[in-house]
Amino acid sequence: MSIVSKLTEAVVHIVPDRDRDELSEAQRIIGKPIDRVDGRAKVTGKATFTAEFKLANLSHAALAYGTIARGKITKIDRGEAEKAAGVIAVITHENALKMNPPPVFGGGGPTDAAGSSANVLNTDEIFWNGQPVAMVVADTLEQAEHAAALIKVTYDEAPLPKLSFEAGRSGAETPKNIFGEDAEVERGDAAEALAQAKFKIDHTYTTPAHNHNAIELHATTAVWEGEQLTVYDATQYVRGVADSLAKMFSLDKKKVRVIAPFVGGGFGGKCMWFNVQLAVLAAKMVKRPVKLVMSREGVYRTVGWRTPSEQRVALGCDQTGALTSLIQTGVTATSFTNDFAEPFSFAARHLYQSKTFQLGQKVVRLDTLANTFMRAPGEVLGVFALETALDELAHESGIDPVALRLRNDPEKEPIKGREFSSRHFKEAYQLGAKMFDWDKRNKKPGSTRDGQWLIGHGVASAYFPAYRFPAAARVRLNADGTAVIQSSAQEMGMGTATVQIQHAAERLGLPMKKVRFDYGDTNFPNAPVAGGSAQAVSVVLAVQQACEKLQREVLSLAKKGKESALAEAHFDDVIACDEGLFRRDKRDSGETYSAILARMKKDFVEAEAETGPPLEMVKYAMGSYGAQFCEIRVNEETGETRVARWVGAFDTGRILNSKTAKSQFMGGIIMGIGMALMEEALFDERMGRIMNPSLAEYHVPVNADIPKIETYFLDIPDPHMPVGARGVGEIGITGVAAAVGNAIYNATGKRLRNLPFTLDKLL
Ligand code: MOS
Repeated sequence: MSIVSKLTEAVVHIVPDRDRDELSEAQRIIGKPIDRVDGRAKVTGKATFTAEFKLANLSHAALAYGTIARGKITKIDRGEAEKAAGVIAVITHENALKMNPPPVFGGGGPTDAAGSSANVLNTDEIFWNGQPVAMVVADTLEQAEHAAALIKVTYDEAPLPKLSFEAGRSGAETPKNIFGEDAEVERGDAAEALAQAKFKIDHTYTTPAHNHNAIELHATTAVWEGEQLTVYDATQYVRGVADSLAKMFSLDKKKVRVIAPFVGGGFGGKCMWFNVQLAVLAAKMVKRPVKLVMSREGVYRTVGWRTPSEQRVALGCDQTGALTSLIQTGVTATSFTNDFAEPFSFAARHLYQSKTFQLGQKVVRLDTLANTFMRAPGEVLGVFALETALDELAHESGIDPVALRLRNDPEKEPIKGREFSSRHFKEAYQLGAKMFDWDKRNKKPGSTRDGQWLIGHGVASAYFPAYRFPAAARVRLNADGTAVIQSSAQEMGMGTATVQIQHAAERLGLPMKKVRFDYGDTNFPNAPVAGGSAQAVSVVLAVQQACEKLQREVLSLAKKGKESALAEAHFDDVIACDEGLFRRDKRDSGETYSAILARMKKDFVEAEAETGPPLEMVKYAMGSYGAQFCEIRVNEETGETRVARWVGAFDTGRILNSKTAKSQFMGGIIMGIGMALMEEALFDERMGRIMNPSLAEYHVPVNADIPKIETYFLDIPDPHMPVGARGVGEIGITGVAAAVGNAIYNATGKRLRNLPFTLDKLL
């Protein structure tokens, strides 16, 4: 056990129970399917994304990418590029200003955000095929791209780079820990229990590498004014980017401002990648604002990918379906410039009870691009293998796949024995099964057809942990009765501003149109990374605490007026409603905010709060759950697989906005269908180069691939989360690939264990 977890377990008794927060009696706004407050701006093109900021004297940067997997740059010929039209500078490791190494996420500092430690353009060393080796700054993007193509690089190639995941697996190592948790967990003798089990299965499952494909390309515009640095960046972590740039360029943190009002998708791939520091470097060197928009190929070459994985899952159960042995072990990959073991074994530590466990992960380092977060990293891989294996055990034992899962629904978290903060796994299954008509399916594989099409039904669990991170927020109440909430949160399409305004409006007793949310700017109080499906609740808690401070302040102001209806009121006697504070016991007795501020001659009242570390996550096992059901049609002649119907039912605590939450579930399921049927980074193990670096060759689902998706949620508040809500961003993708594979088995009688399930695997 790590020192961190020992320490945190020692303080568990002081964790306050976060009583279910009822807000005002009237739940009027939270949960409603409110349209996005920024929806109109986005669809009319009025929302300004990073690459669209118009700055005076702007120049443009383009990158040249290395073509070997490992070695050293021996010579760079810049001559022709420097002579090309419009070129301002050609920057390589030979002439670049020095930068400190990128501070890697999860390393030393709490706000370190870089995805890779490679100090590109400050080193002659090559760590992967596609590493940036030069940057051109020119008057136009076209000029920069043209000149970048004229740069000639000579290399000294290292012999035998490590490029094969398959070959490297035997040399994989066990990491010291994974996010503070032990890499290996054993409870009882799982091998012996497997040998003795009444029913058992034991198989290997593989998943390929995946690349990030947010619609908005990675982009950064950097502006230096003396020592003051302003950066417009498409990032899901403005604070992290600012602090990391401060480290790289030896600046006072207060001298760096990062702005990101809108981000066109992040999915874990937009913390801080090379476009950020290289745009800043270029702007410093050419003494002009520089915009660096990555090409789509550039994103594939430089932005971290999702690791490939190989997992063994072996399950044994007794006559009743109770698990006696749960074994999940395997290998993922990382690079030599980062350190990230995807936690694929975490789901198995949480989801099911078993008499014995053997869980473990190893990691192999390869000479590739760094690996990074991609929507439900770890969980999505682990759940795929585990949920496919459970389907196999269901068939082996003759127990219904839904019944088998419910049979193993634990009372307490299986490994650590902690209480669940709130777990409604069973209810999610019951709701999903009912909406899908699960009981009406044909249980016999390969026996339902519609002409050439074989039809099958499958199910799998969804799971993602519930996180909360420390966050800060400021709330200002103006004399005109409007309020402004500020926090440096990010909007990547999830509906951040919308749900935060819903929450703040309800808490302050104001209509939504009188509340504004300012975000996406490090000038505002610090929000955490928009990741781990944790941003919404993390910021909600900070806003909640800031609002309470503010309301106490407003009440004390009100009490200064002897004639005020609130003169005798204590804080607990009042509620916020009707645009002011009113007595709980006498709802017509109170004052509006604007009346109080006017009497006290105040233009505004302001309060700020910063939340503490999430000790509740130490005390309780906290997760979200779901059940994914699908109908699949497989063409018997061609192997073509089409998803015909989807039902997802989720237990994610209280829903903040039923429309944006459904969009999150749906987006996750669509991404999961891509993972199941088409997504795959094709990697040349001789050259170490990704071979399909474009959306023409790297397939993701389009509208025609997606059926009607029905999503349902329980909306049961979690008493240990702010306003009872848990994150909804990542759970939707989990379980999808397993449900598809399980349905393919039901349709065809053929079991697929290697993603993606392309037609060649069915013929
Ligand atoms: Mo997510 S993979 O934490 O953006």
